Amino acid sequence: MIKRCHTVAELNLLLGERKGTVGLVPTMGALHEGHLSLVRQALEACDQVVVSIFVNPTQFAPHEDFDSYPRTVESDMAMLAGLGDVIVFTPSRDEVYGEGDLPVDSYERPTFTLLCGGRRPHFFGGVCRVVYRLFKMVGPDKAYFGEKDYQQLQIIRQMCRDFDLDVDVVGCSLIRESDGLAMSSRNQYMTDQERATSIQIYAGLRAVREAFSNGDQSVASLRRCFQSKLTDPQWDLDYCEIVGPQTLNSRNSEAILGDRLIVAAVLGKTRLIDNCSI
Ligand code: PAF
Repeated sequence: MIKRCHTVAELNLLLGERKGTVGLVPTMGALHEGHLSLVRQALEACDQVVVSIFVNPTQFAPHEDFDSYPRTVESDMAMLAGLGDVIVFTPSRDEVYGEGDLPVDSYERPTFTLLCGGRRPHFFGGVCRVVYRLFKMVGPDKAYFGEKDYQQLQIIRQMCRDFDLDVDVVGCSLIRESDGLAMSSRNQYMTDQERATSIQIYAGLRAVREAFSNGDQSVASLRRCFQSKLTDPQWDLDYCEIVGPQTLNSRNSEAILGDRLIVAAVLGKTRLIDNCSI
């Protein structure tokens, strides 16, 4: 059964005495199968599951899509209803940020400026601000994040170590559409033509994995291999990097087994990110 609440007081009433493990799946709504797979994993491992839906203003720059970001709470609830007993927590901006400044608000890490942080310098600071607050509000034992946002996942793990937060951060496999496109709430921004072109990203990832398993370890050559698959002139490649899986530092010359290939590219108005291990 689905129960919805808006405040921490209501949430605590629903959670009651908190016997057993509480799992949190933080989301911004516009749920898709990728989110549902996180919720399913939480339901399997935890006694109580909270899904938060909050479009977090601090992770959007003024020119980004905060206002137009899809807000579909009713259909999100309907999707969750099929999964099991879930508490949907939809706090207001005041409920989340009303307490004012916290130490996490000045939290910075070198990883914030890498990869997606290059074009979105505000982003990871904003994510940490809200995830820290959600952890404080919900008090989860476990929290579930998708590997689609691989950099975000590593940064949240680091934040938990830095602030000594006792939350087990569970990384869950990226979920793809049947043609290979990584699921994302922003995929709906694409035109039909862009949607057809978008699968070139997955073709690029597969080509790199194949080249690497055939013995090509040169980062420059693997990067060219990826780029060769983005044949549509509309692509604006943001980055294509091979990074250490935890440090997120780019390899400069040779890729190593277990590294992460991580890419971002813009197609029309949609910025797509993807990654895989090699
Ligand atoms: O990955 C997301 O949807 C968001 O960045 C998160 C973790 C819910 C924080 O707003």
